Amino acid sequence: MDVINDKEELLEQLDVWRQHGEHIALVPTMGNLHPGHASLCDVAREHAERVVVTVYVNPTQFGEEEDFDDYPRTIERDTMRLRKIGADILFIPSDETVYPFGHDCATVVSVPGLTENFCGASRPGHFDGVTTVVARFFAIVQPDVAVFGQKDYQQQLVIRYMTEDLGLPIRIITAPTVREDDGLAMSSRNQYLSEDERTIAPLLHKTIDRIGAELESGHHEFEELEAGGIKELEEAGFKIDYLAIRRAENLATPNRDADDLVVIAAAHLGKARLIDNIVVTI
Ligand code: PAJ
Repeated sequence: MDVINDKEELLEQLDVWRQHGEHIALVPTMGNLHPGHASLCDVAREHAERVVVTVYVNPTQFGEEEDFDDYPRTIERDTMRLRKIGADILFIPSDETVYPFGHDCATVVSVPGLTENFCGASRPGHFDGVTTVVARFFAIVQPDVAVFGQKDYQQQLVIRYMTEDLGLPIRIITAPTVREDDGLAMSSRNQYLSEDERTIAPLLHKTIDRIGAELESGHHEFEELEAGGIKELEEAGFKIDYLAIRRAENLATPNRDADDLVVIAAAHLGKARLIDNIVVTI
């Protein structure tokens, strides 16, 4: 695996692969890699001969009060992990490479419709930062496919929308959420949990899973199910951002005969903000 910081060096290598007719998959990350990220690389490998992973802690997607400064930066461990996983290139760009005119003068890519609610409401500006940086990585790497995790459900939806709306010739693949044995979705932010909080944390997944099972067994009082889930989580000590049953396709409020639904949730537990979701067909 080559570790590349320089954009020109990256482009030269990508050119060689393209001349050999090889397809390129992109896996964008902010580092602090765990098995969830590794699974994206495995999925990427199923769709392309070459896998490029980026590690870049993107400042424009963090709010002022958020954890940009504290976000775990573990590049040596990440590099070792990616060598084992067998990525072809690890690209670690500088701020100047990603934002040549600086953050304040950056061209912003924004997807208004899908970003007003849920994580977009609790983290204003977050998705503009995500789409702006992902569009930049798409422009630099020009991959055939790009892989994102279902764990960040709204994010992958927003990126799909952006890609289609801009007519970018990139196939977006969504890879399943990788979980700890007790069901907690793996996340870099789980390390903010205290020991006690860590024992409570899997309840987030258990709750949305139970709601999913009830939906599948014919209980379609959506608001009642949402309220029950919120109550259960609040009683356990979570501070709920949202817990909602929505159409999987676009996060719109479903009517009774909607078939593909997603149960999405975000909640604070101590210092950690946890998110999770499951897709259900009724
Ligand atoms: P990051 O949080 O590092 O996540 C990188 C990718 O890994 C995202 O597509 C995310 O959905 C996926 N991922 C994280 N945890 C996962 C899990 N438990 N199972 C499966 N996939 C998981 O998401 C970002 O970075 C950034 O917003 C980024 C897209 C890189 C733009 O800066």
